[in-house]
Amino acid sequence: MKPAAPDPAGRRSFCCMACAALALALLPTSLPAQAPPADPDPRRVTADTRASLKAGTVKDYRKAGGFYLVADGAGIYALTAICTHNGCKVVAEAGQGFGCPCHDSEYDLQGNVVQGPARLPLRHFEVTEQGPGGPLVVDLGKAVDAHVRF
Ligand code: FES
Repeated sequence: MKPAAPDPAGRRSFCCMACAALALALLPTSLPAQAPPADPDPRRVTADTRASLKAGTVKDYRKAGGFYLVADGAGIYALTAICTHNGCKVVAEAGQGFGCPCHDSEYDLQGNVVQGPARLPLRHFEVTEQGPGGPLVVDLGKAVDAHVRF
């Protein structure tokens, strides 16, 4: 009887599995969270002016910075379009507030949570203008209290 021929494919496979197991064992159990790189210029110049925004207006800037500009009876404010639950973009709902298409969180027009699963309100950002009567500028790097109006 002839001795069994060595099985190079089986040996190679065993070595690959052993190396993979060793690599997995050497991986840290939790990778350090990396903050996104800071935006070198978080200011966004909008196409709107104070005069162009009448009370009750909600302007969508999701594609130009990920925020909404809103005017109410007290002034103008900007708030993030990023849902505080898991980061989806919220959608304005006909002047009633904002809804998240991912898990159905609802926010009122000021960004307060009306329905979860989100638990935190939408962040507000500083609004200024680029010169008197000029375009409104939203600074995504400067969070402000939800009651601040421009
Ligand atoms: S990401 Fe908005 S509700 Fe989950």
